[in-house]
Amino acid sequence: MMMTLEILAAQIREVLIRENSPASREQVAGLLKSALRGEDFVAAQFVNEVGQRKVLYEDPTLGFCIVAHEYQGAKSSGPHDHGPSWAIYGQAEGETLMRDYTPVAPGQVREERSYLMRPGDVHVYNEGAVHSPSRVTSTRLIRIEGMNLAGVVRSECKVVEGA
Ligand SMILES: [Fe+2]
Repeated sequence: MMMTLEILAAQIREVLIRENSPASREQVAGLLKSALRGEDFVAAQFVNEVGQRKVLYEDPTLGFCIVAHEYQGAKSSGPHDHGPSWAIYGQAEGETLMRDYTPVAPGQVREERSYLMRPGDVHVYNEGAVHSPSRVTSTRLIRIEGMNLAGVVRSECKVVEGA
């Protein structure tokens, strides 16, 4: 079966309408992962100008969004959460060095681990999870947001060193 945006959206909807939990988001991540294996699917999402953020699909009732991102050249973000939402990152092209953090005090976090996301890699960040992506060359991503994060205030966190 040829994967399309409409099919992926319907599959995600089917999962989230039953249950919206960290476990079900792992299922959604699996759907995104298999969609990213399709070169035609990935290419189709970037046929038109995407820029740094383009909502490809927004679910009219559940509110989740499928979003494409294209970053030209190096691009890094500081540690942040996604406000009241969760987000699933899927690497479509290029590589992202991702860092995850543990909260140590209000607004303060400590680096927990880092990992390289390569094309096809997918990762779930649940509500309150703090991470920072950094890219040294151009990248393309497809993300699923629990709600449209445009305009949602993200908490920026300060990194503290040491044990
Ligand atoms: Fe993020």
